[in-house]
Amino acid sequence: MTPQDQKKRKTAEAALDYIKGARVIGVGTGSTVNHFIDCLVDYKIDIDGAVSSSEGTTQRLKDAGIPVLDLNDVNEVKVYIDGADEVDPSKRLIKGGGGALTREKIITDACDQFVCIVDESKMVNSLGAFPLPIEVIPMSRSYVARQVMSKFGGQPEWRENFITDNGNQIIDIHNLDISDPVAMEKEINDIPGVITVGLFAIKPADVVLIAYDDETKVM
Ligand code: A5P
Repeated sequence: MTPQDQKKRKTAEAALDYIKGARVIGVGTGSTVNHFIDCLVDYKIDIDGAVSSSEGTTQRLKDAGIPVLDLNDVNEVKVYIDGADEVDPSKRLIKGGGGALTREKIITDACDQFVCIVDESKMVNSLGAFPLPIEVIPMSRSYVARQVMSKFGGQPEWRENFITDNGNQIIDIHNLDISDPVAMEKEINDIPGVITVGLFAIKPADVVLIAYDDETKVM
């Protein structure tokens, strides 16, 4: 395991403390979450099942023998475990590097507690160095890109040859100055054609577990 993988495994292990007593959990998407799924197996965690944030995670959960539940069929998701691409000191996030932002945001909103698991490389003072993903209806792609540029600046880039699990496209906005993430999230949400913007600021993480070389910190 590389040193970064070891940190991902450590933050994933730390998340096990937060799912105690939960029968249904939400499971995010990405390499850090993959370690979390491994932990569910290694520690023989007893749950009724998991609500999944992507087709990739669904497959991994099934391969691990963990029942995958439809969000429509569960009344409560006690806790949601997911990674992030950037985390600021107020636990606001950029997500969607893996393209799963829409289902991730739905589960973030539906869960009682969102526990974000990251290694130290994801921590920033201010969001925006990571290109901000926006999932769009395909016909609106250029329109949304122009609207975002005129309102906020930045350089939009179409994530070519990528279709989301929902059949949509993604544009990544480079070099944004995100001084007010809540306002930006609201304004981008309002552009017709936008499905989801990868800012998780209106509802940030409740807890962030950050793995360093020698310890895991709780924020
Ligand atoms: C998926 O769409 C993203 O939101 C992921 O949560 C994010 O990219 C983190 O992935 P890693 O754990 O692989 O860095």
